[in-house]
Amino acid sequence: MATNKKPGKWRNRTLAVRGGTVRTPFQETSEALFLTSGYAYEAAEEAEARFKGESVGYQYSRFGNPTVTMFEQRMAALEGAPAGRATASGMAAVTASLLCAQRAGDHVVAAKAMFGSCRHVIEDILPRFGIAQTLVDGGDLDQWQAAMRPETKLLFLETPSNPTLAIVDLKAVAKIAHQGGARLIVDNAFASPALQRPFEFGADIVVHSSTKYIDGQGRALGGVILCKEDFLKDHLQTFIRNTGPSISPFNAWLHLKSLETLDLRMRAHCEGAGTVADFLAGQGKVTRVLYPFRPDHPQHNLARSQMEGGGGVVTFEVAGGKKSAFRLANALRVIDISNNLGDAKSLITHPETTTHQKLTPAARAELGVTSGLMRLSVGLEDPADLCEDLEQALAAA
Ligand SMILES: Cc1ncc(COP(=O)(O)O)c(C=O)c1O
Repeated sequence: MATNKKPGKWRNRTLAVRGGTVRTPFQETSEALFLTSGYAYEAAEEAEARFKGESVGYQYSRFGNPTVTMFEQRMAALEGAPAGRATASGMAAVTASLLCAQRAGDHVVAAKAMFGSCRHVIEDILPRFGIAQTLVDGGDLDQWQAAMRPETKLLFLETPSNPTLAIVDLKAVAKIAHQGGARLIVDNAFASPALQRPFEFGADIVVHSSTKYIDGQGRALGGVILCKEDFLKDHLQTFIRNTGPSISPFNAWLHLKSLETLDLRMRAHCEGAGTVADFLAGQGKVTRVLYPFRPDHPQHNLARSQMEGGGGVVTFEVAGGKKSAFRLANALRVIDISNNLGDAKSLITHPETTTHQKLTPAARAELGVTSGLMRLSVGLEDPADLCEDLEQALAAA
């Protein structure tokens, strides 16, 4: 009895629904949730062979689990990656990808416009273990080049970045990395594979917070690392197996099922965000709007050359600094105040006092994280309701 479809050269929308599926002999149409920590062996000899690597099969869900494998395989298919491993959160994915192959004496170059916790790992945690770092302006290719050293092993960037939606030229930075014998890691959380596939531009490793658009409904934390087979075999697999940042099979199942609607949701997020960005640009109290697919975004052409949509996040600045920003947030009747993003519900945050609070004032100023800056994750509500909500809240700001 055939239990599985044979994947052909499927397009991305088909891969998002069917990629990685392995059916049990019950032929369930919806992917099975294997909520198990361990696996039984028919005989002690079989257990021994499994641990020696002489027989193939699951041993323990910290190392691997059939539901988690389906999620990893589907994500790898969508990103065009040879391999992948899922983790308990996006930060677990970022940390594992940065630590698993490095040792004291190595050096990392990273774009300074990134999520606050990623910056903490690179600036504060890596140096404790003797791994040096240099932060650069991600848009300045000369800075990337100048930062390279013989001991540089990794380049790390986020595009679009959190929260200022800065775009980095993936192809150019991948070339600099490879000329220097280093690997490029791209955090693709803001775009998702529905809008941007960094492997096509030369990235070696892609990390995700699947908590965001991949879950899409604000339910469960998760992360994914997509990479090439040698990185998995030589570094990542052993690191995950022994340090245990593994995802729960339940969360992996939620994110696996969410991938089925990723393409549809991202189209709606992009449409809503584009409408809201245009609306905000016409409001007197709004002094700046950042949205990658608007012609006034400083890297608009670059964004269009590597993304298929502008994404679901709009960042804008309200006149009057923190006081006005707080008044605006507190007056909203539809949009929630929340530091998460990528939810079906629209969420707004004030990065200066939340996600980027731990940066020094100078570091925030350098990134353009001002007191009036708001990051709006546009959800799946009717964009007209969101514009009306923002209009009445701006009147109170
Ligand atoms: C770009 C980016 N990378 C990584 C993370 C961390 O993901 P998680 O919250 O799933 O650990 C976040 C947000 O939290 C993010 O915005």
